[in-house]
Amino acid sequence: MTLYDTIFIRRSVRKFKDSPLDAATIKSIETFIGNTPQLARQSAMFEIVSGDKVHGGTPAPHCILAYCTDSDSSYANVGYVLQNVDLYLQSIGLGSVWLGMAKPNEPEQNYCILLAFGKTDVPTRKAEGEFKRLPISEISDQDNLVAKAVLLAPSAVNSQPWKLHFESGKVVIRYFGRGLMKLMLRKKLNKIDLGIAARHIETALLHDGKAILSITPKTSGKTFEIEITYG
Ligand SMILES: Cc1cc2nc3c(=O)[nH]c(=O)nc-3n(C[C@H](O)[C@H](O)[C@H](O)COP(=O)(O)O)c2cc1C
Repeated sequence: MTLYDTIFIRRSVRKFKDSPLDAATIKSIETFIGNTPQLARQSAMFEIVSGDKVHGGTPAPHCILAYCTDSDSSYANVGYVLQNVDLYLQSIGLGSVWLGMAKPNEPEQNYCILLAFGKTDVPTRKAEGEFKRLPISEISDQDNLVAKAVLLAPSAVNSQPWKLHFESGKVVIRYFGRGLMKLMLRKKLNKIDLGIAARHIETALLHDGKAILSITPKTSGKTFEIEITYG
């Protein structure tokens, strides 16, 4: 299954089989992470560890720990990279879930977030109607293939903290805080969410035969947005 097709059937998996993946599969996931480009001037680090090295979230046999500096664009970059991995894992029949509340047992400098994964019996979604999401008009000024891909993107507590604006050859995704927890999510998790959405935008544009020209995170005062240009 392609990564684009996976957008329409993925789900957060919170029940994993106990048996770990074999070393060759873990190696191929490591290779996939290493081959996923990061945003310009970003250099996040990623490490696969066994699930018993973390606490505070859904137990899983494996986790990818992400490390980055403390800035909006670094958090968005982690979302952008690991959402590619989330789609990849689910495209090969594994389960995965972002865990913003989990932490490594040993406190680690620059730790950002983790993506838990492993074998699962939980089926993927079968239809778009199974996603709990806002109406598309609340997140976008156009209803098109790119907006649909963002609509289905995962976000912390399903906050969907974004608004999409389309111009010729350009999509801008702006932070738009929602929900009771918006003050708690704003600093880091919602910035990761915007990077996740940027990944879905890129995947949809590539599926539509477009070439990505630039992906640029921008912070200005309290606003944060990611501008994506394509041709
Ligand atoms: C940045 C981020 C952090 C998340 N943290 C958690 C978490 O700590 N625990 C959890 O069970 N789910 C977590 N989730 C999963 C969301 O709750 C989930 O993506 C959202 O409810 C939408 O559901 P779906 O992914 O099945 O489409 C997180 C998702 C994201 C993107």
